[in-house]
Amino acid sequence: MTGSRRIAVLISGRGSNLQALIDATAEGRLDAEIALVISNRADAQGLARAREAGIETLTVLVHELQSRSVSLVCLAGFMRLLGATFLDAFPNAILNVHPSLLPAFPGMDAQRQAWEYGTRIAGATVHFVTGELDGGPIVRQAAVPVLDTDSPETLAARILEQEHRIYPEAVAAVLAGGWSLEGRRFRPAGRTRHR
Ligand code: GRF
Repeated sequence: MTGSRRIAVLISGRGSNLQALIDATAEGRLDAEIALVISNRADAQGLARAREAGIETLTVLVHELQSRSVSLVCLAGFMRLLGATFLDAFPNAILNVHPSLLPAFPGMDAQRQAWEYGTRIAGATVHFVTGELDGGPIVRQAAVPVLDTDSPETLAARILEQEHRIYPEAVAAVLAGGWSLEGRRFRPAGRTRHR
């Protein structure tokens, strides 16, 4: 990663996590500049949110990102696995938000998977993207209790609130620099290990 604070957000649909990042930058909770929003679908609702915020939009990738000096790529509901070319172009510089406490329930429909399994605690995870599906080092997590009255939809809505909270926090932690990865463990700047 370079020292710039320019980020790109990749979407495929609704774009509510994109909106959380836009709002956090607008309100000063996240010191970053959203340089562009990219969708692999031209009909993604999130593209309208980006245009509304005056952010450049594109429907395609690596060259477009590099030519705009993007240092961190944020997947936000992006529904396509990234290939080796893309991953190699942005080593430890791609984040994703996933609606479960990874490593539990990777893949599609994670909130429903957790509800059907009968887990009492669900949650959300922001992690680095690697070649393994939902498998990279974890930057932030939030736990969400599963209520007896929950349906998969009500649970997903509470998880989404936590996604919107922890994603901007995680982006800020990564952009702050000074962090390291010890194996799979993300160590923010200034944290030393207790022995
Ligand atoms: C979120 O639940 C995210 O965790 C998952 O896809 C969903 C995207 O929602 N990866 P939105 O488009 O950000 O509203």
